[in-house]
Amino acid sequence: MEAELKRLVMRSPFEVRLPKPRREGEATLLYPFDARIAWVAACHHRTSSRISWDLFSSTAVRLEPLFEALLPALQSDDRLPAAETLRFSVDLGSAHDFEASPLQLRGVVKNALIEALASRGVTADVDADSPDVVFVARRAGTPESRRTVVGIDIGLGARHRRGARVAAGPAPLRETLAAQLIMLSRWDARSEPLVDPMAGGGTIPIEAAGLAVGAAIRRPADLPFRHLAAFGGLPTATPDLFPGTVPRILALDVDEERIPTMVGNLRAAGLTGPSHADSIVIGRKDMRALTPEYIAGMLPRAADMKPGVFCFNPPYGVRIGGEEGEEKLLDLYAGMGRALSRFRGWRAACFVANARFVEAFGHFPTMTKPGTNAELPGAFLVYDL
Ligand SMILES: C[S@@+](CC[C@H](N)C(=O)[O-])C[C@H]1O[C@@H](n2cnc3c(N)ncnc32)[C@H](O)[C@@H]1O
Repeated sequence: MEAELKRLVMRSPFEVRLPKPRREGEATLLYPFDARIAWVAACHHRTSSRISWDLFSSTAVRLEPLFEALLPALQSDDRLPAAETLRFSVDLGSAHDFEASPLQLRGVVKNALIEALASRGVTADVDADSPDVVFVARRAGTPESRRTVVGIDIGLGARHRRGARVAAGPAPLRETLAAQLIMLSRWDARSEPLVDPMAGGGTIPIEAAGLAVGAAIRRPADLPFRHLAAFGGLPTATPDLFPGTVPRILALDVDEERIPTMVGNLRAAGLTGPSHADSIVIGRKDMRALTPEYIAGMLPRAADMKPGVFCFNPPYGVRIGGEEGEEKLLDLYAGMGRALSRFRGWRAACFVANARFVEAFGHFPTMTKPGTNAELPGAFLVYDL
């Protein structure tokens, strides 16, 4: 997450230095607020699941103390929207250790917001269907110091929802995880081809194409910026941040039914047509039969590039791949490992939720990082082949 934001901020329209974030557990980075950095993150950042502008934080774990602390804090908070009327909603993040039900927590935050905004001359109504601003309440912090936090969702909800995928394969990878996987692979789009040999619905190739050029995933007009004075005067357009980069990406799958899904998703993401013809190539192939010659034939324009990067998520044997029993799946992993032995100098990065993958695949990962896809705990693995 941090490496991606650094890269984006450096190429953003702003002269701004990105401070070092504070880490909160495995999955949260906290940056001091700067509207320009928040703008870059909200519009372009692909690896974050949510982006919140935190306004209030308290150790309260019960409803009354929370309301008593939240109301005066909001009443004197000039960061709140200042329009005459405001439609808003409250989303809840993880709040399992709050000592009341999620509904009650949401209710208290809503009441405090309505009262605080009224005291500032704003008539606020709850409108979950088309809110101007979405507030988020969550429990956050490390196990030793937990807090109840209220903020403004400036990233338009769950960010794995990119709005482009028209059809998912039977076991799609979350877009945010796909982007994390590509970042962990250290892919350099200017000098290395990227191959997803098990591309399914094409999530990884689509994210790779977006990361390569720094394409936005949110339009400022869809974000709550116009209701928040801090974002006044910031750009309303989001051109690519790395406009000259032409990536070389190969998306393969053994299953012919996956090919139309992939094409449909690429089209929905605006990645088909003559300008992308040499940049993203689709093919049907069994990963176990992959050779450097095959890839060179499919990606002739990558001939002068360095060795490349494989990014993929294989079947785990849960949603797919388990039909023929675990031995077959382990055979598949072993065959994949043998195929990648033909690619000296390449790197491979995968997300797998099967504890027996590493041994069967037969290569030693240089990096392992835990992660979760669709509730399935797994790991990112990176290999130098
Ligand atoms: C977990 S899915 C990948 C999902 C994909 N990343 C997405 O987001 O849609 C695994 C894919 O591997 C493919 N697959 C299974 N065995 C394969 C093989 N031997 N060679 C190539 N692809 C294979 C399946 O058809 C399936 O599409």
